[in-house]
Amino acid sequence: SAPTWEARADLVVVGTGVAGLTAALRARSLGLRVLVVTKAAAEDGNTRWAQGGVAVVLPGEHDEGDSVRAHVADTLVAGAGLCDEDAVRAIIADGPAAVARLRERGAVFDARPDGKLARTREGGHTAFRVVHAGGDATGAEVERALVAAARDGRVPVLEGHVAVQALRTPTGAVVGLHVLDDAGVPGVLSAPAVLLATGGLGQLYQATSNPEVATGDGLALALRAGAPVADVEFVQFHPTVLYTGAGARGRCPLVTEAVRGEGAVLVDATGARVMEGVHPLADLAPRDVVAAAITRHVALGRGGIDDHVFLDATHLDAATFRRRFPTVHAACLAAGVDPAVSPIPVAPAAHFACGGVLTDVDGRTPVPGLYAAGEVARTGLHGANRLASNSLLEGLVVGERAAEAVAADLAGGRLADTCLAVVPDLPVAPVADRDVLQRVMSRYAAIGREAEGLAIVGSVLDVTAAERVLDTRTLVEDAALTLVARALIAAAATRTESRGCHVRTDFPARDDAAWSHPTIIRLTPSGQ
Ligand code: SIN
Repeated sequence: SAPTWEARADLVVVGTGVAGLTAALRARSLGLRVLVVTKAAAEDGNTRWAQGGVAVVLPGEHDEGDSVRAHVADTLVAGAGLCDEDAVRAIIADGPAAVARLRERGAVFDARPDGKLARTREGGHTAFRVVHAGGDATGAEVERALVAAARDGRVPVLEGHVAVQALRTPTGAVVGLHVLDDAGVPGVLSAPAVLLATGGLGQLYQATSNPEVATGDGLALALRAGAPVADVEFVQFHPTVLYTGAGARGRCPLVTEAVRGEGAVLVDATGARVMEGVHPLADLAPRDVVAAAITRHVALGRGGIDDHVFLDATHLDAATFRRRFPTVHAACLAAGVDPAVSPIPVAPAAHFACGGVLTDVDGRTPVPGLYAAGEVARTGLHGANRLASNSLLEGLVVGERAAEAVAADLAGGRLADTCLAVVPDLPVAPVADRDVLQRVMSRYAAIGREAEGLAIVGSVLDVTAAERVLDTRTLVEDAALTLVARALIAAAATRTESRGCHVRTDFPARDDAAWSHPTIIRLTPSGQ
């Protein structure tokens, strides 16, 4: 049905996580009329579930011997040859200023007795450089502070409205969004600039650390608006979510890598170390290495149990564990595990999209008027495997930069006029059953893929997906999952090598000669 209302702004931001709210606050301080829209409540989303922290080398805070240069080097190693080195340098160099602004906006990080910030270490980091809040509740503190700053700064946030499609001029520039409220009432947000900050896609899989809202909406919206996506085959599986029983579904509680940073080790049911002899950094190897090692260990039948291993943190006394990891502690107790006494049952689960909408380090996509920042974007920071705690950092830095890019593009007359002659009908798109999609993605497109399994996913989507008018939030989400699954299996089938988070059992070796470049996917005119 035709839109019943219209609102206008200079910039519409989709999403209220770290990247979206940082961008909105910066845009507001630059004098732009900004409007933020989210399909859920402002606090919902991936950011508030982040545990470990923000990876950043702050002047005056960090150990002699650590440096921005070392942080860049660790990021490049974790990224397995696929990072954009210039993007890595630019984003990491901006980290200290971005974290300082976040603290000015009210976020409080944990401090040591000497008054300096407490720091931990996570997989792939060669130094203690991850600052954290509330022990293991960094994302919750970041989100709390940004939501409060947005409310104090009177940044308008429209909750309960899902973005259905980008509105475009005849030449393809984005000039706004079509949105639907929870009752299915359509509206139009007109703006010469739209920033996607919609987060990740963990709901493509049965078990994920991501909340229910992480359905890849921004990727699908960008693809339909003509923007390319890159590196979407690189879905990072976190090695340790709490294992709560066979066939666990939905959001699984994360057991932060910082627990390993504080000395915990992965063992199997016989007590044998899982990471011994696998990598020089052992339990603190980059995340892709640890997740793949656990998967291999259980697949080979080592250790007696076929779907999980254990994280032994019993060297920490009960009070220390509870103080340092209150979120993990509460989740363990709720599952009947006392981590001071027994090893924690853990398994890998889908965690982070390393790829996304292709952007530069200022959030610009190749489509005029369309910007992206945070997990939905692919800036080149993560390559084939994101370094732990680089994601909040990227959201802070690129959120800020994207707002500055929009202001510059507006001032330079580079954006289109928002007056649209016609608002298009709600789109029609293939929609697969979410449960079926999650099952086949988990079976054939998780850690360890091969051509045959990826083709099976494609066939299942061919047979089960039906064309639907996207007139409810659930249909918008399921259509996004369907389209993103298609993009992911296309990229995964194309990349005939194993690298970072992309493990092809039929092409187990890394092939630098053929595959040192990103996999770029665009929607064809037929919509597939
Ligand atoms: C964790 O705390 O282990 C997750 C941190 C991250 O994903 O960067």
